[in-house]
Amino acid sequence: MPRSFLAELAAPGCKVPVRACELESSPVWLFASIGEYPVYDEVAYDAMIKDERRMGAYHDAVRRYAPGRTVLDIGTGQDAVWALAAARAGARHVWAVEVIPESARIARENIKKAGFADRITVVEGLSTEIELPEPVDMCVSEIIGTLAGSEGAGSVLRDARERLVKPGGVLIPHRGATAAVALDLESATLGEPPAFPTFVLRYVEEVFASVGRPFDLRVVIEGVQDDPKVRERSYMSGAAEVEPLEFNGKLRPEGVDGAELTFTREGRFSGLALGMRLWVAEDDEPIDSLVQPSSWTPVYAPLSEEGLPVRPGDRFEFEFTTTMSDDGVHPDYALVGRLHRASGPAVPLSWSSTHHGDGFRETPFYRSLFPAP
Ligand SMILES: C[S@@+](CC[C@H](N)C(=O)[O-])C[C@H]1O[C@@H](n2cnc3c(N)ncnc32)[C@H](O)[C@@H]1O
Repeated sequence: MPRSFLAELAAPGCKVPVRACELESSPVWLFASIGEYPVYDEVAYDAMIKDERRMGAYHDAVRRYAPGRTVLDIGTGQDAVWALAAARAGARHVWAVEVIPESARIARENIKKAGFADRITVVEGLSTEIELPEPVDMCVSEIIGTLAGSEGAGSVLRDARERLVKPGGVLIPHRGATAAVALDLESATLGEPPAFPTFVLRYVEEVFASVGRPFDLRVVIEGVQDDPKVRERSYMSGAAEVEPLEFNGKLRPEGVDGAELTFTREGRFSGLALGMRLWVAEDDEPIDSLVQPSSWTPVYAPLSEEGLPVRPGDRFEFEFTTTMSDDGVHPDYALVGRLHRASGPAVPLSWSSTHHGDGFRETPFYRSLFPAP
């Protein structure tokens, strides 16, 4: 009995076949990277609220910096968690900005119920398009994506620093980065082609609908980060950092970062797992989505469909490029590299992932995930 099967997506304007699977039969599966699209729902907000490591680090930082200060909470979400935490910690006033109208409405209700309507003002809209009566002392946000900048943290927080926060004001989080590790997909999935569990299909449809057409959307790989045994059989190298985002320093939303991964074991190199590291406060240990269970999941960047055989000591050298898409907020990503093996010449490999680009079924990975009708 094959564990994956073809299902159909009701994508805008056309039906799209997609490879799906039953969750129970697949230890490792795919999800859409959704945080960079306006498709948050109760389930997504709930997963973030239940992420104890994330909640603990943010609560500590907010309690430390908010007392006596004016605060901007960018992307407050329906629960207004950091706006409420700041008010409870003694912030003088909080501006809570949220772009999804329904989330802003529920946030307003929650704030009223909690008795903080006089100290928290909910502003519906994009932080990049609002004005505040005066710059604030501190800005808290959690718009960190599956890749550090994929939800627009680089451009959004640079804009906040320039227009909405006082010079020298504090930004929480302090720093983010994307971290890459070499992956053996076949070992990760125990030979099964990776697929979307059926409950994920509606998110894929929603991402397609928000962009207006099907495209090769960014996918994340679930089930690897949480389990040391799965990590051991999947990851083939140490991790290297790219896309550094210094929210309290020189913030660079675009750039090119060089990195190198050395293989530590034999296997088939199929691509990279790209996770995010997040330092919520300056002296915190980072949250690391490559090796810790969390509400962030590593992106899978496919490089070779069949997997290239590698041995310990072989190297993958690459440049990781972040450029702003034409919406001015969400980055497009590209990676160009060379696999250096003791046996044979270097092999060029590349990957790209746009926020809302045109390409559909452009590579073997996506042709297999979305087979042509
Ligand atoms: C990852 S959720 C975080 C929600 C909540 N702050 C938390 O930490 O649980 C990000 C939220 O930010 C909103 N958002 C993202 N960018 C925004 C922006 N520039 N201005 C206003 N809201 C934004 C999204 O709609 C979403 O509700």
